Amino acid sequence: MKKPEGKHALIVGRIREGTVIDHITAGEALNVLKILGITGTTDECLSIATNVSSGKVGKKDIVKVEGRELRKEEVDRIALIAPRATINIIRDYEVVEKKGVEIPRSLVGVVRCPNPGCISNTSEPIESRFEVVERGLHCLYCDWLITKDITGHII
Ligand code: CTP
Repeated sequence: MKKPEGKHALIVGRIREGTVIDHITAGEALNVLKILGITGTTDECLSIATNVSSGKVGKKDIVKVEGRELRKEEVDRIALIAPRATINIIRDYEVVEKKGVEIPRSLVGVVRCPNPGCISNTSEPIESRFEVVERGLHCLYCDWLITKDITGHII
């Protein structure tokens, strides 16, 4: 199908400075924001597009964060739910850097352990620690294995 042109071309505008997270698995944009710790009460200027047609096949979500260059380590966490996402750093309207996301080997303070008895869930000031393994996320304190609904456990 021909690409839309003119006034129908842009769903969200181009940004001047900041980060564009593109090719997010359709429907996961809000979870991406959750993982990044961006909520309605933080002060970033955001544009979010969901279920945008992407190339020949399928749909994608896009998140644009203006005025902030997200570090790759921050964005890599989203690989858990959006493994095909690309991070684009924008300066003066140009894409100056483009990278894929890589699943991190460990997650500190990102996911809550489902085990109520885990030391990371007590009043101790201990951040949760998980290693990313083939079957899911492995708690380094109590050995619990999260195998599904990772986003449901994000802090
Ligand atoms: N973008 C933006 N503001 C800019 C420049 C780019 O919001 N000033 C967005 C584009 O809309 C796109 C993403 O950043 O969603 C990547 O831009 P670009 O590399 O120009 O697009 P593509 O070549 O289509 O990217 P890819 O090859 O990764 O699909």
